[in-house]
Amino acid sequence: MKNSFRKKPLALLLEEMKGEHRLHRVLGPVALTSLGVGAIIGTGIFVLIGVAAHDKAGPAVTLSFALAGLACVFAALCYAEFASMAPVAGSAYTYAYATLGELFAWIIGWDLILEYAVASATVAHGWSHYFQDFIGIFGYHMPALLAKAPLDFDPATGLLSSTGSMFDLPAVVITCIVTVILVKGIRESAGFNTGMVIVKVAIVLLVIVLGAMYVKPENWQPFAPFGYSGFSIFGKTVFGQTGPAGAPVGVLAGAAMIFFAYIGFDSVSTHAEEARNPQRDVPIGLMVSLVICTVLYIAVAAVITGMVPYGNINIDAPVSDAFRQVGLGWAQFIISLGAITGITSVLLVMMLSQPRVFLAMARDGLLPKSFFGAIHEKFRTPWKSTILTGLFVAVLGALLPLRLLAELVNIGTLFAFVIVCAAVLIMRRTNPEAERPFRAPLVPFVPIAGIVTCLMLMFSLPAENWIRLVVWLAIGFCIYFFYGRHHSILRKHEG
Ligand code: ALA
Repeated sequence: MKNSFRKKPLALLLEEMKGEHRLHRVLGPVALTSLGVGAIIGTGIFVLIGVAAHDKAGPAVTLSFALAGLACVFAALCYAEFASMAPVAGSAYTYAYATLGELFAWIIGWDLILEYAVASATVAHGWSHYFQDFIGIFGYHMPALLAKAPLDFDPATGLLSSTGSMFDLPAVVITCIVTVILVKGIRESAGFNTGMVIVKVAIVLLVIVLGAMYVKPENWQPFAPFGYSGFSIFGKTVFGQTGPAGAPVGVLAGAAMIFFAYIGFDSVSTHAEEARNPQRDVPIGLMVSLVICTVLYIAVAAVITGMVPYGNINIDAPVSDAFRQVGLGWAQFIISLGAITGITSVLLVMMLSQPRVFLAMARDGLLPKSFFGAIHEKFRTPWKSTILTGLFVAVLGALLPLRLLAELVNIGTLFAFVIVCAAVLIMRRTNPEAERPFRAPLVPFVPIAGIVTCLMLMFSLPAENWIRLVVWLAIGFCIYFFYGRHHSILRKHEG
């Protein structure tokens, strides 16, 4: 058991980076920031804002965005410090290996599957909503049997109900297309991403500027119909109101849901190994992409809730529908198209990140190297695990409902952020002399604030997510005890 807490020395991490079989170093600060924005703006702002405003926070969803953004800024500063110290592919997984030991590292690596692969499935769903909204403008509709996941989550009862559909075909098709692009290579993927990022930022700016002209300030009243809090401990509401099926509602509960919109900035750290000058550029990419998106999100939230009374906000395609409701049909067309493009780039970056975490774990022996560590001879990409990720995402995206997936992703990601913030505190104590090209400011305040705000959001999610998280981690724990523990390279080295 003691061996399971063995830590990977920082010196070893840096030594490994010099080895052969590394990924291509082709990304500069602009490409990294663009990958960050690519991963961030997507289903959260184009789809989940609808549920968050309609059911959780009302017009005060603007504050929810500010709050979730703040929690992410604290976490991002901690990620940036680590990424500059150990610019390798594994992100939070690697940071945990160096500070908290192998078992924690494994748990975080396993948890990151929730963040990247399960988030990708959620995003594929969001893509399908906007795709169907878009073809609907021309009078086309997907056959009912192929339009949705077979199950939906009913917030009133907290139970799953049947939708009458078989599976979500558009979600499967987009996942397959993205998988093929990713197998081909990082340079192609980054180029493809930059084009899509330009389109989606332009559309978001259009939403803000054009939408602002249609804002009716009376729609912002009442501002916080569900209250300003929404905090529950394992299903018992402590502060604020309780909504259907016992789930908390209010600004905090809204923040816990739209936290999804910010997920992805940390994926910049998974590309550290492909950065030309990771020590400087990865912190830049992380922080700049997060700050840009926070500002845009707060503006979009204010505009949408100002255009349409919160009770009339559409749940499936809220942003484009708000423009339809104020009589701007042509804008609905452009926004749907922008959302489709934007969400595609999120899928691309998320599905790019997952195999890189697997790769780091395989190099350490915690996953089978022949499969998860395999780099394609010609494309230099982790192609086998990219295809496996694609299959996993396609199956989940085809079959499970969006809201359930999104909440699971949020709790898993918040958990990873808590660990990264804690790891910065620990590393400052255990390795005070280590070179830190980027230092998180105001330590210990920033990491502690990160831990507290992320925990607060975890407790503002419906309680069943804790059970799902524990079950997921327990499965991971078993895999570690039956496989990783025996194959760990560090263990073999240290005997
Ligand atoms: N932040 C990403 C999105 O909203 C995951 O789609």
